[in-house]
Amino acid sequence: MHLSNIIATLALAGSVIAAPARKDDCKDDSLYKAMKKAGRSFIGTALTIRNETREGEIIKQEFNSFTPENSMKWESTEPSRNNFTFEDADRYAAYAKKNNLQIHCHNLVWHSQLPEWVSNGGFDNKTLISIMENHIKTLVTRYKSVCTRWDVVNEALNDNGTYRSSVWYDTIGEAFLPIAFRLANKYDNKAKLFYNDYNLEYNDNKTVAAKNIVKLIKSYGVKINGVGYQAHLASEVTPTAPGPAPDQKTLEAALHATADEGVDVVYTEIDVRMNTPATAEKLAVQAATYERIAASCLAVKRCIGMTVWGISDKYSWIPGVFTGEGAALIWDENYNKKPAYNGFLEGINSGKKHWG
Ligand SMILES: *[C@@H]1O[C@H](CO)[C@@H](O)[C@H](O)[C@H]1NC(C)=O
Ligand SMILES: *[C@@H]1O[C@H](CO)[C@@H](O)[C@H](O)[C@H]1NC(C)=O
Ligand SMILES: *[C@@H]1O[C@H](CO)[C@@H](O)[C@H](O)[C@H]1NC(C)=O
Ligand SMILES: *[C@@H]1O[C@H](CO)[C@@H](O)[C@H](O)[C@H]1NC(C)=O
Ligand SMILES: *[C@@H]1O[C@H](CO)[C@@H](O)[C@H](O)[C@H]1NC(C)=O
Repeated sequence: MHLSNIIATLALAGSVIAAPARKDDCKDDSLYKAMKKAGRSFIGTALTIRNETREGEIIKQEFNSFTPENSMKWESTEPSRNNFTFEDADRYAAYAKKNNLQIHCHNLVWHSQLPEWVSNGGFDNKTLISIMENHIKTLVTRYKSVCTRWDVVNEALNDNGTYRSSVWYDTIGEAFLPIAFRLANKYDNKAKLFYNDYNLEYNDNKTVAAKNIVKLIKSYGVKINGVGYQAHLASEVTPTAPGPAPDQKTLEAALHATADEGVDVVYTEIDVRMNTPATAEKLAVQAATYERIAASCLAVKRCIGMTVWGISDKYSWIPGVFTGEGAALIWDENYNKKPAYNGFLEGINSGKKHWG
């Protein structure tokens, strides 16, 4: 045998010995695999595609879903009337297809990041509904094959549970909700259609109002598949948080409030902020907070998935908006796993024990 063949043979043998069968599916080394083992659908992250190779690696390992952070919002997709711009959103659709990921598409009807031409256009009821239809039709049709879920209406409520004043509510009335869902379903009857809001986790008046939105939409004979609980929470009292995230029983009760109306529930934008700088002690409290958030989802059968609002603290929105607060995600600024990562994974694994 020629020397080079011997070397090749040895190398081949070596690689066989060095690469035993991977036991990925039996080992909880991945958030989404643990979630799927618990019989649920997904673990996602908010995604802004940027020049960070670590993000791509982490997504591949840990996530099977993402939410485009900004690219599908109205101001990005229809900056002037009937003039649609899709370069950015298309990159996300392509990313999902290439990497075989679910997308939680975000969002269709919202008062914020809405261009002036809509919010200050002075349109009458009929015209505004036709503008809404054109927008929903165009987006939902374009991304029909890639959107697993759509946030159809985002943040329609005040914290006290009344409807928020917005061009949608002020012009159309509460009918804007069932109308938006009816239109989304008309152009894509496969995507799961969600109502999404924040501060629903406290099981207070706003949660009751979200339950009433589910009932309202159903009372029109219109399909709604789920409610998204954003879960922008904190691990301690901060200038912008009244206190730490609710206890697990409260979180579960809040999820049940809408799930018991016969819809799925998901956490859509989880982050757990604190007063910075982080200390070992604060990171441990944060880990316990992430654990009970995850455990609350796994304790509710209709909780099908959870999305964290970003990967690394390096890019979290919190410090830029809430001065002096941050460290809210489960990887630190250098992409090292924080204690919160293990807390979150533990919470997911509690579901496996729970449901066998
Ligand atoms: C992307 O990051 C790499 C490594 O940090 C750098 O060399 C490269 O110039 C960056 N590319 C762009 C387009 O920013
Ligand atoms: C459409 O919007 C783009 C981006 O804002 C702008 O550059 C372009 O001029 C607009 N086209 C029309 C026809 O309004
Ligand atoms: C919740 O609603 C009840 C009555 O509907 C009201 O008395 C209470 O003040 C509300 N709570 C908040 C926090 O708005
Ligand atoms: C509920 O909150 C909104 C917005 O803060 C406020 O305008 C409204 O007066 C409140 N309604 C009640 C009944 O407290
Ligand atoms: C606007 O039109 C819709 C659809 O016909 C209707 O359901 C809604 O009540 C109207 N809103 C107002 C304020 O008239």
